Amino acid sequence: MTRHAGVFLFAIFFATAAFAQSAGGPAAKPDLAQGRDLYEQSCGVCHTKPLITSGRFGPALSKQNLGGQADVMAEVIANGIPQRMPGFKHHLNAGQIRDIVAYVQTLDPPPAEAAKPTARTTGERRDDN
Ligand code: HEC
Repeated sequence: MTRHAGVFLFAIFFATAAFAQSAGGPAAKPDLAQGRDLYEQSCGVCHTKPLITSGRFGPALSKQNLGGQADVMAEVIANGIPQRMPGFKHHLNAGQIRDIVAYVQTLDPPPAEAAKPTARTTGERRDDN
């Protein structure tokens, strides 16, 4: 009987420890350095424009996208946009997505001219002009 009680307490101890750990995850302060690294790895290929002559697949991102709403941005990152952008929920966890959102929200919007390349500035034809 006392042995069973011991096993029971042991199980409770582990359940509590696991809960404390997960509660410390997504609720903790965002890690901007990690957000920037993940952003460069996973998003930069479509959302940043390294050279003035290269095209960009997705829009430039900044604190102004999606009205600056962190939860909406996290949703877009997790589920993607049908036909346009892949979802990242199987690739990144909630904490990593939160770090990326926090990083994007430190970015100022680019000047209007840079935000939307036109046929005039790139010398190529684009459908979204
Ligand atoms: C394969 C290219 C691609 C990758 C990789 C990609 N995106 Fe996108 N993303 C797009 C495109 C294209 C759009 C615009 C979709 C549209 O206009 O319908 C978009 C739109 C968005 C939007 C909405 C912008 C707005 O104002 O409507 C957000 C936010 C976003 N992406 C964040 C991210 C983040 C963060 C990552 C990395 C985790 C990422 N994307 C990775 C292509 C990509």
